[in-house]
Amino acid sequence: MYLLMTMAALQTRNQELRFASPAAHKPRRVLNAGSGLKSIERLGTVFDRSEWDEIRIDLDPGVAPDVVGSMTDMRAHFNAQSFDAIWSSHSLEHLHGHEIPVALAEFRRILKVDGFALITCPDLETVMTLFLKHGPDHVIYQSPAGPITPLDMMFGHGRSIAAGHVHMAHNSGLTAARLTNLLRQAGFADAVVKRHEFDLWAVGLMPRTDRNVILRKMAAAGLDLSDATRRT
Ligand SMILES: C[S@@+](CC[C@H](N)C(=O)[O-])C[C@H]1O[C@@H](n2cnc3c(N)ncnc32)[C@H](O)[C@@H]1O
Repeated sequence: MYLLMTMAALQTRNQELRFASPAAHKPRRVLNAGSGLKSIERLGTVFDRSEWDEIRIDLDPGVAPDVVGSMTDMRAHFNAQSFDAIWSSHSLEHLHGHEIPVALAEFRRILKVDGFALITCPDLETVMTLFLKHGPDHVIYQSPAGPITPLDMMFGHGRSIAAGHVHMAHNSGLTAARLTNLLRQAGFADAVVKRHEFDLWAVGLMPRTDRNVILRKMAAAGLDLSDATRRT
């Protein structure tokens, strides 16, 4: 009887904990690297919030990340193999050229052996083509932050930088071939990289990640990478 009462009390306590902290029972962890401000869209369509716990890291304390720090050295914050996924949206190009391999190695270190890194960033080849075709100041499209020119796409959003957001400056650039090579050099078992509109979309796969399962999940979330050029 006492045992039954104790078990019932424990069950109630577990439920209370789940409601008090809904994230506690989510099965998977994703690191949003260079997260910027918190918002649902910024987590990306692949990461359904009912299934994923998001941890945000950013260099800028002004965006109130969970961890203020650089994605180039996360050893003080995260253990090896402690994440199921990395989401890096428009953040790698903010690193200096020599820092990108360091950040990718950090991504690989903290990923589990069946995890993956989903990366999107400007496609430098497309940006250079727009630059040469239209000139630096031509408005290519309107974003929520205002008009975007080839100069913004290449060197970082000018208005944000002028307003004091210095971490918004771009310090390097990636092409599909370069990102593929860097992912492989960082130790990812496979790299899928696609050029789409102004951006690159890439998945770095860990050794025990099933490429087809991940690509199917991405396609279901509206991100079809099945036609990505295979680079050997
Ligand atoms: C263009 S914003 C992208 C924000 C968000 N991921 C998005 O897609 O909207 C780039 C972000 O990367 C951050 N950042 C720049 N260098 C970083 C670094 N070394 N480590 C972590 N975050 C960095 C900036 O502070 C900024 O918030």
